[in-house]
Amino acid sequence: MNDIKDIIEEVKSRCDIVSTISQYIELKSSGINYKGLCPFHGEKTPSFYVNESKQIYKCFGCGEGGDVINFVMKMENLDFIDAVKVLAQKYGIEINTNMDEESKKKLEKIKKFQDIHTEAARFYFSNLHTKKNSGYAYLRSRGLDNKIIKKFGLGYSLASWNSLMDYLTSKGYSNKDLIECGLLAHKKESNKIYDKFRNRVMFPIFDYRGNVIGFGGRVLDDSLPKYLNSPDTITFNKRYNLYGLNFSRKEIKNKTLILVEGYMDLISLYQYGIKNVVATLGTALTKEQGMLIKRYADNVIISYDSDEAGIKATLRAIEILSDIDINVKVLNLKDCKDPDEFIRKYGVKGYQEAIDESINQIIFRINNLKKQFNLNKDEDKVKFAKEASKIIKKVKSPVEIDYYTKYLSDLIQISIDSIKREIYGKSYNKNGNNKYQKSKYIKKDEVVIEKPKIITNGEKFVEKNLIKLMIEDKKLRDIIVLKVNDNDFLLDESKEILNWIIKNQELDKITIDKIKSLNISEEYIKDIENISLNNMSLNNVKGVDDIIKNVKKNTLNEKMNRLLKEQKEIEKNKNNSDTKEVDGKIMEIALKIVEIRRMLQKL
Ligand code: UTP
Ligand code: MN
Repeated sequence: MNDIKDIIEEVKSRCDIVSTISQYIELKSSGINYKGLCPFHGEKTPSFYVNESKQIYKCFGCGEGGDVINFVMKMENLDFIDAVKVLAQKYGIEINTNMDEESKKKLEKIKKFQDIHTEAARFYFSNLHTKKNSGYAYLRSRGLDNKIIKKFGLGYSLASWNSLMDYLTSKGYSNKDLIECGLLAHKKESNKIYDKFRNRVMFPIFDYRGNVIGFGGRVLDDSLPKYLNSPDTITFNKRYNLYGLNFSRKEIKNKTLILVEGYMDLISLYQYGIKNVVATLGTALTKEQGMLIKRYADNVIISYDSDEAGIKATLRAIEILSDIDINVKVLNLKDCKDPDEFIRKYGVKGYQEAIDESINQIIFRINNLKKQFNLNKDEDKVKFAKEASKIIKKVKSPVEIDYYTKYLSDLIQISIDSIKREIYGKSYNKNGNNKYQKSKYIKKDEVVIEKPKIITNGEKFVEKNLIKLMIEDKKLRDIIVLKVNDNDFLLDESKEILNWIIKNQELDKITIDKIKSLNISEEYIKDIENISLNNMSLNNVKGVDDIIKNVKKNTLNEKMNRLLKEQKEIEKNKNNSDTKEVDGKIMEIALKIVEIRRMLQKL
């Protein structure tokens, strides 16, 4: 099949949603639906429904819903095309997109190289268990148990010049290919070919789908080089890969990933139950790896080594990740050199605490900068203030700028006004009627809402309109339930009606009397009755999407207004004694506001 659209259609028609989902969770028949425990949020009573005739699923607990492709995307954390491919493969749907000879050859080579790496990984793994070797003892001495060794497919390359070569050539692979994979080395002068990895514990490197694409091999003692890694090949490019992502992408919670430097750090954390971790492969984080992270996470906690190199790498990673709008925090390893040592010393609870206490990247950078200056000297203080102001200047949100300015002001006992002048230039005017400052905000942050708005009838109307559409039209109702949650609504009545509709999805017709029997005010009912859908085509799904978008937008705006008000209130009542706690609270609100802005921009 050539056309990706045909493939998608074929996948949807051939992959039965009930049997696909049953491979992940247990489903029980319940009326016209199937029902089970939602895999996307923790629950004890099932609120996850699968409808066979419509081929859709919906969780009434967390609101997740969609078709079979959405389910696999979400479950396996794959992007759309990869989810289609996974399903196509499972159901034997052939995909041979219109390819020229060259691309076909390339694909075949990639496939062959993947097979070579898989075979090599099996060989290394079996060495660890069947042959006499010191690798197994080494891994155990590093605190790894059999379960984790198996999970990560760790192995051992024998202290021999040709054991892998013999094994893989007996499987029919050529030396030429094995050299190109970086598994064999070729010494040109003496024309000798031999195993590149010898007497090392072997870490297979997986791509995010779980194919073995390379290896890292560690010596068993203190000799150098500590790690040998596969070279970049047609299947393996260090710039584009992150170690551990094949596992961690299924473990991401709150859109957060932890970033570490080493294989051992990642495996150790994983063994202790911290599973949302990825590692760079001995190189500085690249932009491409940043983009890969962004596919799965909005927040990254950097947990690099505590030495100078680690700090440098942290600063570099901060730059790359913030540039692509990822929220970055930095974890403090106290007296330990790396996460592996830390979790063995302080346990999972200790690491969890360190996660909770991890600090925002701006504060990290300011604190780090501070080390270069002797703040007892006035001269240094001024220099530091100037440099730190440059860091703060990059921040987009005005609320956050205020917070960091305050932090810096406390740190060096220089007034907030002077720092602001440093940030905004001479034109800064503390009374706030400052043209430069205002235009800067508006340019960078398009949604600047300064005065809390009051919910108007117009906003309530849009919401009631959506409810009316759901009551009137079964087809639209089925679509709308998939797209909204009760917390998308402003009015409690709308929430209540939505939840009732969800519980009574099998009803074809909903009468206004049914709605009246719920706990809904007369005024609301009257409004619903008065809304006329005459000039709205019920087949116009785009129109409905716009209404949904407006409803969500109104609710987010209202939430933001409440937060802004709360913030003002706190500022007003603040007295000097409890600043730390109050600042924390203000920051908490500021971050919520930033999050809402982001959601608004996404709409
Ligand atoms: P580390 O030296 O911090 O290694 O290098 P580690 O993971 O903590 O290993 P242990 O605990 O000493 O066994 C971090 C990462 O840098 C890469 C590896 O990917 C390593 O995991 N590295 C390090 C190399 O590629 N080559 C080297 O010689 C050293
Ligand atoms: Mn280490």
